[in-house]
Amino acid sequence: MQVTLQRQPIEAIETEALVLVVHQERREDRFGLGALYDSGEITGKAFETTLLHNVPGIRAKRLLAVGAGKLAKFNSAELRRAVAAAIRHLKSKSITEAAVWLDAEQASPDFAAAAVEGAILGDFETDRYKTGKKEAKRIDRFTVAVAEGGPRLDAAVERGRIVAEAQNFTRELANEPANRLTPMALAEHARRMAEEFGLECEVLDRDRMAQLGMGSLLGVAIGSAEPPALIVLRYRPAAASPGAVHLGLVGKGVTFDTGGVSIKPADGMEKMKYDMAGGAAMIGAMRALAQLKPAIPVTALVPAVENMPGSRAQRPGDIVTSLSGKTIEVINTDAEGRLILADALTYAQRLGCTHLVDAATLTGAVVVALGHYNVGLFANDDALRERVMLAARAEGEKMWHMPLEDDYKDYLKNAYADISNVGGRHGGAVTAAMFLKEFADPTPWVHLDIAGTAWLDDAKPFMAKGPTGVPLRTMVRLAMDWN
Ligand code: BES
Ligand code: MN
Ligand code: ZN
Repeated sequence: MQVTLQRQPIEAIETEALVLVVHQERREDRFGLGALYDSGEITGKAFETTLLHNVPGIRAKRLLAVGAGKLAKFNSAELRRAVAAAIRHLKSKSITEAAVWLDAEQASPDFAAAAVEGAILGDFETDRYKTGKKEAKRIDRFTVAVAEGGPRLDAAVERGRIVAEAQNFTRELANEPANRLTPMALAEHARRMAEEFGLECEVLDRDRMAQLGMGSLLGVAIGSAEPPALIVLRYRPAAASPGAVHLGLVGKGVTFDTGGVSIKPADGMEKMKYDMAGGAAMIGAMRALAQLKPAIPVTALVPAVENMPGSRAQRPGDIVTSLSGKTIEVINTDAEGRLILADALTYAQRLGCTHLVDAATLTGAVVVALGHYNVGLFANDDALRERVMLAARAEGEKMWHMPLEDDYKDYLKNAYADISNVGGRHGGAVTAAMFLKEFADPTPWVHLDIAGTAWLDDAKPFMAKGPTGVPLRTMVRLAMDWN
């Protein structure tokens, strides 16, 4: 999608469809919309769309009023979703070009970036493997239109494009089926992206990981004929960074999760292709950061494996030795995410990361606890947690702070090894986080359980069914706002 910024009066904008954001409890009177409010045809409710033709007084061929809810609750996150809903509506009408109007009070950098992101994210479809009329129904050109505004708006439009394109890149990866996206294929995607955008990329293979002693990660990998890969992407700022901060972004990269010998039920197992969504989000975040150039060094680490019940697969009761030296009894081979993340978290610290954030489709329990609307956030450090929370709020990626207390350690006690890889039936999202904490401590660390939020089971007015790209935007802002 080609994206531009135009500065001119609303009447002068030439476009196939001019998107105007309208609100509840604020009667829009321009262009005859007042009468539609009075009749109740427009209410301003979120995602309500009203398409008008031949509106007098404007050059635009069509006017699309899109609802964004109550004005008092309006922010850049709501604008992003409203624009996305408008774009999806226009696409369904075979319109290929559009503009959104931002009134003076919305003509801020964050709003302009959010509008662009809404357009690009709303345009995304998971139709890569549909043959036939694939090229139909995309928006080719999109304009953010304002009456006036300085160069910061141009930069914001560019930032929005970079971030949203990275998010769609992540969504494409997360949507790839496991026969096409093996651990090595994921590494190849990362390598190609790194080359294109000027990042360092290193891929550790099975031998290298064995040499280092990553027994926890390799124990998961051994059940599959597909070799594992530990993907490392590095961004370094041109100038030395303030305070010697080095951010590590760790993402779970299970390209398919059968459960292993503790095999999952068949029903819905096809969805486990998205068990690498955390890894894809971190790779996508690096794609954006390579272009936006934060002041601090950022390293992404994605342990990529396939969890299969092959004849060499690890068994319940197996004891593995992690890179940290700690031994783990594998009670359930389906709790594989934490096993690969344990070694990646240890390795991230060896590479010099001073602050860690991981994203993982880690537990069904977090879906039970929070449903599909909030990421489960766990932290061993208040300051880093606050940074991530602030970034998440600004980006409209909802996260909820969950407990992480030593009391829960009891659940992971083990008679034969240092720790079990599962707790009991209760508090599953917390015990999973508690397990990771054993390997993240003492480095400040935040764990994001995205099992409920990385995939949409049903389309929303503003987003296609499928991968969401969460928490890419939060990661990008976290790095960009660090100072
Ligand atoms: N990848 C799954 C978690 C998951 C579940 C992601 C649903 C997305 C949707 C993870 O590897 C897993 O299997 N977790 C187990 C842990 C259990 C064995 C302690 C789970 O949640 O059932
Ligand atoms: Mn699993
Ligand atoms: Zn998994």
